[in-house]
Formats: sequence, C-alpha cells, structure tokens
Amino acid sequence: MNPRTPAKADFDRIARLCDRRWDYHYTRSKLRTDPVYAAVAAVIAARPLPVLDIGCGIGLLGQYLRACGLDAPLTGFDYDERKIRAARVMAARAGHSDLNFEAGDARTGLPEFSGHVVILDILQFFTPAEQNALLAAAAARVAPGASLVIRSGLRADNWRFRVTVWADYLAKATRWMKAAPVSYPDAALFHEVLGAAGLRVSLRPLWGRTPFHNHLITATRP
Ligand SMILES: C[S@@+](CC[C@H](N)C(=O)[O-])C[C@H]1O[C@@H](n2cnc3c(N)ncnc32)[C@H](O)[C@@H]1O
Repeated sequence: MNPRTPAKADFDRIARLCDRRWDYHYTRSKLRTDPVYAAVAAVIAARPLPVLDIGCGIGLLGQYLRACGLDAPLTGFDYDERKIRAARVMAARAGHSDLNFEAGDARTGLPEFSGHVVILDILQFFTPAEQNALLAAAAARVAPGASLVIRSGLRADNWRFRVTVWADYLAKATRWMKAAPVSYPDAALFHEVLGAAGLRVSLRPLWGRTPFHNHLITATRP
C-alpha cells in the first residue's frame, strides 16, 4: 500500500491538537521539515503491523501515520511523563483510540511487544553499553517480516556532526530534553548488534534540509 502524502494543512491540524504554545510551534515545524516520519511511514505501509515507538516524545509519529491513512495500532513509550500526557491529550482530541502511550525508562525495560519497532533520535542519551542493550531488546520485539527503524546522528569528524551535538545540548539547556547527550553511535554498532540478532541491516543518510548528521537504519527480520 502507498501511504497518502500528508499536506501542510494536516500538519497544522495536528499542531492544533497541542495544549501548549511551545508544542504547537514545535509540532508544526517538525512535521513540515523533518523527513524521518515519511521514511518510517513507507516502511510501515509496506507491511502494516503494530508499531512500538521507543522515545515517542509527544507522539508525532503516531499522528503522522494516521495522517497518511495508516491505522496500525501504535504504542508510544517515553520516560518524560509530561510528554506522555501531551501525547495522550493529542490522541484523544484527534479521536485516535489505537494510539496508546506508556511512561517508562527504556534503560530499565521495554513493553512486551511484537511488530515494527521505531527508535527516533534517542540513542545519544544512552551509554554505549545501554545502546547495545536497547538495540538487542528492540530487535527481540521485531516480528518476522517487520523492521526496526532507527534514526540517529552518527559520530563523525564533520560540521554536520558538530551541529548535531550542539543542537542536543541546546535542547537540554532549553529543558525540551531532560538529559544532555552521552554518546553517539557509529555505523558498526548497528551491523554488529542487529546482525547478531538475525536482522538484515541497511543504513543511509537522512538529513533532508536539516543541518544534522542523521542517518536512517532499517533492520528487517526475514
Ligand atoms: C529528540 S526526542 C525524539 C522524540 C520522537 N522520537 C520524535 O522523533 O518525534 C527524544 C525522546 O527520547 C526520550 N528519551 C530519552 N531517554 C529515554 C529513556 N531512557 N527512556 C525513554 N525515553 C527516553 C526523551 O524524553 C524524548 O522524548
């Protein structure tokens, strides 16, 4: 199935679901500019299965999938209770009963689950050992034919990487994020950990018109 391409009006409608002015502007600009949601939607559309969104924030991926006409049940998981409450409010206001959000720390366990697993922009908050453990736990929740889709800034010696690190510190300074970045993964980590878990791994740059050193990692269980 080809997902519907959401229009700017869809993004404005989603932004209006937000409680707070900051969330409204963040949502509108994030959905308009970040290519990651369309990249994830393409993977889900190819094989509609339930989705676990680890580090879901205020639940923008779920809202984006619904705007694409994709109705796979989604569970969002995040340790920021304020964001989980915001995600629930937005889902309720939109009338989406199959977008569920749970508060919890991905360093200490993940919900029981089988389907697609998504991890967008959270690995930098984990130590290398925690990244290994999270990737292994996420891979164990990927159903046959489903994928683990990850977006992460990769460690490198270039200006994009330096902007990525700066933006993460800024997010902490403005209290948008609870934590400062700890460690950025390199490409080898995904091949090692996810390959060992039996997934087929591919990596590609995904920064669109943003200045970040972001990559999309797709790891599929045959
Ligand atoms: C940059 S935001 C990305 C939000 C969302 N994935 C998106 O792309 O729209 C990173 C999210 O990871 C969450 N996070 C960071 N460390 C976490 C942890 N240990 N357990 C659960 N969530 C965590 C933060 O609270 C934040 O919402």
